[in-house]
Amino acid sequence: MDNQQQIIDDTIQYLKDSFSGEATGHDWFHIERVWKLSKSIAKKEGDMDLFVVEMGALMHDIADHKFHDGDESVGPKKAAEYLSQFDIESDKVEKIIKIVEEISYKGKNIPTKMSSKEGEVVQDADRLDAMGAIGVARTFAYGGSKGRSIYDPIVKPVCHTSFAAYKTSTAPTINHFYEKLLLLKDRLNTNTAKTEGERRHEFMESFLTNFYQDWNAQIR
Ligand code: ADP
Ligand code: NI
Repeated sequence: MDNQQQIIDDTIQYLKDSFSGEATGHDWFHIERVWKLSKSIAKKEGDMDLFVVEMGALMHDIADHKFHDGDESVGPKKAAEYLSQFDIESDKVEKIIKIVEEISYKGKNIPTKMSSKEGEVVQDADRLDAMGAIGVARTFAYGGSKGRSIYDPIVKPVCHTSFAAYKTSTAPTINHFYEKLLLLKDRLNTNTAKTEGERRHEFMESFLTNFYQDWNAQIR
């Protein structure tokens, strides 16, 4: 086995040990899906550093600001610390750390441009996993873990213009669809992800239509 494959295998083991059973939708299986989706997107999009793609995907949620009092510097720091145990070229390390730093969604009007092609692929994979049926499941898991209600017709969705406002929101979980999930299809980078995103977007639209029908508690 070559050195890069060994690093990927070690990292998978480390993440399985650290994130198995996590209950907010940021568990090992989320990381695994983002890793697999990233590899599939990269293959279709061609010509990029696959090691950076795989490591970026595996490390992307290593220390999310949401679980560190909103501190965005913890993720990149932890990634740098973790990667320093391996013998990896410094330009690759930098690219992987940048992915961890830049990947997050920060609110409707806040740009989240990735500085590498590899980063664009990993960001797309992470966003696809926030959409569709898995996206719905993860969103209610996260909302429940934060003590949020499912829905409250009185509390209207907000169009966030700052990351600070977005990350401190305490709105019901349904609002997250309007504040992030339904906006993701237009925030994907690659054509491969855009095509896959359409199907996942349609599912969320249909979920919401059914949700409001059922909310009215009427027999048809
Ligand atoms: P990103 O990967 O862009 O940083 P997050 O980690 O913030 O995205 O979100 C990942 C998933 O966690 C979301 O797609 C959603 O399922 C859930 N989540 C995050 N914030 C909220 C929220 N305020 N309400 C409900 N679910 C949320
Ligand atoms: Ni993620």
